[in-house]
Amino acid sequence: MKASVVTNRGGGFSVGEVQLAEPIGREVVVDVKASGLCHTDLTLANADLGYPVPAVFGHEAAGVVVAVGPDVTQVEQGDHVVGCLIQFCGQCVKCLSGRTFECLQPGFTLRGADDEPRLVHEGKPISQAFGLGGFAERALVHENQLAVVPDELPFPQAALLGCGVVTGAGAVLNTAKVQRGETVVVMGAGGVGLNAVSGAVLAGASRIVVTDITDGKLERARAFGATDVINSSEHDPVEAVRALLPNGADHVFDFVGARPVTAQGLQMLGVGGGLYLIGIMGNNPGVDLDALALLNDKLRVEGVYMGSSNLKRDIPFYAQMSLKGRFNLEDLVSKEISLSQIDEGYDALKDGSIARVVITDFAT
Ligand SMILES: NC(=O)c1ccc[n+]([C@@H]2O[C@H](COP(=O)([O-])OP(=O)(O)OC[C@H]3O[C@@H](n4cnc5c(N)ncnc54)[C@H](O)[C@@H]3O)[C@@H](O)[C@H]2O)c1
Ligand SMILES: [Zn+2]
Ligand SMILES: [Zn+2]
Repeated sequence: MKASVVTNRGGGFSVGEVQLAEPIGREVVVDVKASGLCHTDLTLANADLGYPVPAVFGHEAAGVVVAVGPDVTQVEQGDHVVGCLIQFCGQCVKCLSGRTFECLQPGFTLRGADDEPRLVHEGKPISQAFGLGGFAERALVHENQLAVVPDELPFPQAALLGCGVVTGAGAVLNTAKVQRGETVVVMGAGGVGLNAVSGAVLAGASRIVVTDITDGKLERARAFGATDVINSSEHDPVEAVRALLPNGADHVFDFVGARPVTAQGLQMLGVGGGLYLIGIMGNNPGVDLDALALLNDKLRVEGVYMGSSNLKRDIPFYAQMSLKGRFNLEDLVSKEISLSQIDEGYDALKDGSIARVVITDFAT
């Protein structure tokens, strides 16, 4: 099959021939119909954050089940499914408590060292990022990493449910549990941050303030439900937020992940506020914490993994909300590309008019 392979770190994405193994145990073969470009794949393909290359990246994939292993019980041939990078066993104490995103044995969804590799390129095994490898014509995935969605949901929209949507909306609804009337700041209105705006609308937030450095992204954020927008390359975002919210924000979501931006997020918080860290820009994200200031103002700083999501519950939920017109998936898909255009697709994301780029042509 055709797959996009990252051979050297920083060397970009290029299409090659990759062999996909037959499904064993609880594995499922998905004929990939759409695959979204999340910034995380680009970060991992470029910076050395512990992910091995050569690899097939791509973790926002939707498609049709075409084959199942002998022990599969949760999906069947013909199902429309969305892949998600949350790897969980379903058996550990975290999973049994419903916190599958904190699974203690995420390697459960992967093959063992003695098994035949899932992906082979030029005669050698290559890595399948997050157990998905969605930048390919087909993906071989453990059934725990798949959620079934209604057939009427278009594949490009469905694909985005797997990461951008569960991460952005989940940070608001699951991690922060934003309450009706509370105030929210979203820093970074990209393909993930926009879903935090949608989540904040669903939660009934009274103010949804969005910061970005591109006017086009801010305009789109308004269309998703932002009540106020701030171009942080033109205005000091802390002063601008304080002008809008004199008591500070109840919740600040950082989808940028650059040290100075995260520090600004901390300064936007009101008493009892929470700063949620989602973005990872390069390999030096982080923030310096003043324990006394945290203590005096009763602040929280929380790292958020995949919107604290339960993929089997949340992906079908957002799909249903979208089909009922209560969650905007349609306007997230700005551009459709072919498998060979991933580098250009990531470049296009720098343009303010683009929310998410999705691969829908896997033949070229
Ligand atoms: N924690 C998780 O589980 C998780 C999951 C998915 C994605 N992510 C991360 O979330 C982040 C967002 O992903 P994405 O796909 O939406 O990326 P993206 O590139 O589409 O969006 C990032 C946005 O931040 C804006 N931005 C850049 N500098 C800024 C600044 N100084 N102030 C305000 N805005 C600024 C950009 O203009 C852009 O709109 C990435 O870092 C990604 O790796 C984390
Ligand atoms: Zn992602
Ligand atoms: Zn588990």
